[in-house]
Amino acid sequence: MTEISRPFTVEGKPFFTLGGQSKNSSGYNQAESETAFQAVKLLHGNTLEIPVYWEQVEPEEGQFDFRSVDALLHSARRYDLKLVLLWFGTWKNGNMEYTPAWVKTDPQRFARVLSPTGKDVWVLSSHCQATFEADRKAFTALCRHLQENDSTERTVIALQIENEPGIIGSDRDYGPHGQAAFEEPVPGELVTKMKAAGQGRVYDLWQQAGAQESGSWPDLFGWVAGEIMTTWSIATYIDRLAQAGKDVYDIPMYVNVWLGEMYWRIPGDSYPSGGAVVKTLDIYKWFAPHIDLIAPDIYIADSRGYEAICAAYSRPDNPLFVPESSPFGSNAWNMFRAIADHSAVGYHCFGIEHMVAADGTPHPLAERMVDSFRCLAAAIPLLLEYQGTGQIHAVVQEENMGHQVLELEGYHAIAQFGLGRMPYVGKDWRHPPKRLPRMDQSDGERGRGLVFQVSEHEFYLVGAAYQLMLRPKVAPELALDTSLTKEFALTRLAHYVRVDEGHFENGEFVVDRRRNGDETDHGVWVEPDVGVVHVLLCE
Ligand code: DGJ
Repeated sequence: MTEISRPFTVEGKPFFTLGGQSKNSSGYNQAESETAFQAVKLLHGNTLEIPVYWEQVEPEEGQFDFRSVDALLHSARRYDLKLVLLWFGTWKNGNMEYTPAWVKTDPQRFARVLSPTGKDVWVLSSHCQATFEADRKAFTALCRHLQENDSTERTVIALQIENEPGIIGSDRDYGPHGQAAFEEPVPGELVTKMKAAGQGRVYDLWQQAGAQESGSWPDLFGWVAGEIMTTWSIATYIDRLAQAGKDVYDIPMYVNVWLGEMYWRIPGDSYPSGGAVVKTLDIYKWFAPHIDLIAPDIYIADSRGYEAICAAYSRPDNPLFVPESSPFGSNAWNMFRAIADHSAVGYHCFGIEHMVAADGTPHPLAERMVDSFRCLAAAIPLLLEYQGTGQIHAVVQEENMGHQVLELEGYHAIAQFGLGRMPYVGKDWRHPPKRLPRMDQSDGERGRGLVFQVSEHEFYLVGAAYQLMLRPKVAPELALDTSLTKEFALTRLAHYVRVDEGHFENGEFVVDRRRNGDETDHGVWVEPDVGVVHVLLCE
């Protein structure tokens, strides 16, 4: 059993945040945000992530206008949804696009990063105290506004500080502020932390550079020193922002990450230098204690790459939360791995308005994702109860896979994909084969979902396009000599007490429909529109 730390709560209880992020670049008005709220509803989600733009809420220095935030609070309550607000402050995707005009036009006061060749980069320097102070005042004003207007209802469940922070355009600030910091001694606490850890990516980089215990950043880290120093500087900058914000309003805060595993993997080029990428994550975990978690924006489509990211960001000191992911493609099945194998505490798609077609139905390209969200939404009470217990199993049909074997207590289990062993039987009258079935063909779907084994003989299933075949684990001679296998040629393999479709209400499973006979003989099948399937077996 692994204890899952869950920063997100509603009415004091753990909350699994499921939903989407608005297409966030220029949604400055309420009319546009309506589309995003509607999309979350269509997606079966419970939360909308949406930005608060610094330039919009502080157009003149010291003059705050939070009408846009009030409109979001109002709409969220009307839609009965929760909000995660994204603070687009000093950084948004490694640049300074969302800072107010009075910041953008005063580089003397708000120093910009200088590139190695001395050119201005469109990013504010984390070494400039004036910038920190300005961001701190604006961010704490936002926190105060929420404290005054939302501390009872708690519509906002978390704040994301900045958006994919870091520098695009340089590995560090080569200007006077940054250069001075680069030549200063590396803080002793960092050396202490690395020595105590004795392993990890930051530790390895230090070892590879000679493991000096004191000296400047290049003395300790060699040619990766620019990125390491910038990470330290930005992590501590954001942590001070979080501390100031939490002093005003205690609410979960997280930082999202433009992953380092992108394209050329060059800091400041392929991803923002100074973000909490896998390589530098330890620095954020060591020196940003006011940040509840570090969250990867996962747009990696291949399952190996996807899972490596989940593994890197789910650690005892960091629950996995996916604030952004693709609304299309393989994310529709990879997400089940994040949730079952890496105990993700929340999951969101980016640009959810794209998922809605003009007539208000799911866009054809997003149908699979919407279906997957529907399955997850139905299973949230089970997630909250069983994540971390080892009793949740992801079903994911990889390419060319006809079935998947699951390791369950007391049962052999196969998730059969495609149309199953006897496709002419179909599932039930509501789910006929989509075209003339052949045993060797699927109907173009990908099998996916979750299997919860809640006790030895009891299971809950959600998902799409798989049928779970269960067979008791018995001694080999008995397995080969059971009346069950003889009787039904490997179809009816276990004794069902009952198989029911249903849903959860106030934590209780409510039965909507019983299955039996043909509809259970060929495996326990799932589809997004049948809710949760409860299976009880006996010896
Ligand atoms: C990641 C960023 O965090 C989002 O704000 C948005 O720009 C997406 N990328 C677009 O792909």
